[in-house]
Parts: sequence; structure tokens; C-alpha cells
Amino acid sequence: MSTPTCTISVIYYSSTGNIAAMAEAMGEGAAAAGADVRVRKVRETAPPEAIAYNPTWAEFVEATKNDPEATLDDVDWADGIALGSPTRFGGPASQLKAFLDTTGGLWAQNKLVDKVGTAFTSVSTAHGGLESTILAINNHFYHWGSIVVPLGYENEHLLKVSGNPYGASFVARKGAAPDDVALTAARIQGERLARITAWIRAGRDAQAGTESAS
Ligand SMILES: Cc1cc2nc3c(=O)[nH]c(=O)nc-3n(C[C@H](O)[C@H](O)[C@H](O)COP(=O)(O)O)c2cc1C
Repeated sequence: MSTPTCTISVIYYSSTGNIAAMAEAMGEGAAAAGADVRVRKVRETAPPEAIAYNPTWAEFVEATKNDPEATLDDVDWADGIALGSPTRFGGPASQLKAFLDTTGGLWAQNKLVDKVGTAFTSVSTAHGGLESTILAINNHFYHWGSIVVPLGYENEHLLKVSGNPYGASFVARKGAAPDDVALTAARIQGERLARITAWIRAGRDAQAGTESAS
């Protein structure tokens, strides 16, 4: 097996599976680019009575109860991080925010500086806040001192089909699961994150090698 080009953590919250599917696709894209990848859900913090009110949410919680949960080591370990959340009233879900709010210790040790970050989301309505959610997630990267990688429009799929340069996005009309358009955008974003992260890591490693030799 060849040496991984970089390490990527895909860290997400999902209550009914849309973001979970996109997170898997993001991880596939990063792995295809040669990265060592971890895909991790953040802990559910909603009370059981809130979850029970929505059968789809309850089924998803049950189906994913053994999936690995994100830890601070997944943040520390990764050269690049993709953060995903469904849109909640135009911003990220509190569950993702709760996890991110535990990264203060890493931040205080400067361990988040120069990580490469990107964000993705899903909504139920076309103008329901995709970009505001991605921008709000990206605020964490600015405070971490990370390098933000937007999805952009680098190929025909992004330019003519999926069409959101902020990050992979899915509009879940009437509860539909993510389609090929959204999953392809997520794969492209994962590949792009890993490609750029690998460049940065290679440059950092080369500089560290030069300094230790001199
Ligand atoms: C409390 C709450 C707030 C939501 N707010 C928005 C919103 O602002 N805009 C929107 O389009 N969809 C909104 N949605 C819908 C979800 O973002 C959407 O269904 C998403 O695709 C779910 O992703 P998931 O399956 O990964 O949980 C909201 C859903 C809930 C439960």
C-alpha cells in the first residue's frame, strides 16, 4: 500500500441521514486522492422525547448507534477537516456546534493552525440557507487559523449541474435522500480537500526537512 498523502477527518452531524450520506461520499473522494480518511459523526445531544417525535430521526439514531463518534483526536490527527451539518434555521445544527466548542484546548495549544478546512450542508428548501450555514461553519476555521477551501467551480459538474461554489449542498425536497448530483459534488469536494491538503503537508514536511538538515 502506498503512503497516504495526508490525513483527512470528515466530521458531521445528521439527524435523518442526508448529511451522513454526503459525509461518506466526501470521505470516498478524499480516499481516492490518496488520503488516510476518518468519517465520524458527532454525538447526538437532543433529548429522547424530541427524537421520538420524528420517526425518521429515531430510526436513523437507532441505525447509527454503533457508528464511531468524533473525538478531539480526530481533529488533532487530521491535516484537513470537512465539517458537515444540516441547515437549522439558516445555520449549523447545535450538535455540531457543541462538538466544535470542545476544541478550545487544541486551539489554545495552536494545534488547529494551518489545518485545511471545508464545509457542506443540506436543506429542505432551495433557498433555505445553504450558504449561510456553510459560511457559519467556516467561521470556526477562521478562528482556528485554518486554510479554507471552498468547492468552487473547477469542473463541468460544479459549474453546470450542482452549482454551489460554497460547498456540496443537497436540497431534500419531500424527504428525498441525496441524489447523484449532491453525492458527486461531495466526492469532488473530498478529493479537492485531500489534494490541496496534501500539497500543504508536503510543503510543510519539506520545509521541516530543510530546517533540520541546516
Ligand atoms: C429544527 C430544524 C430546522 C431546520 N431549518 C431549516 C432551514 O432553515 N432551511 C431549510 O431549508 N431546511 C431546514 N431544515 C430541514 C433540514 O435542514 C433538512 O431536512 C436536512 O436535509 C436534514 O439533513 P439530515 O438528514 O442530515 O439530518 C430544518 C430542520 C429542522 C429539524
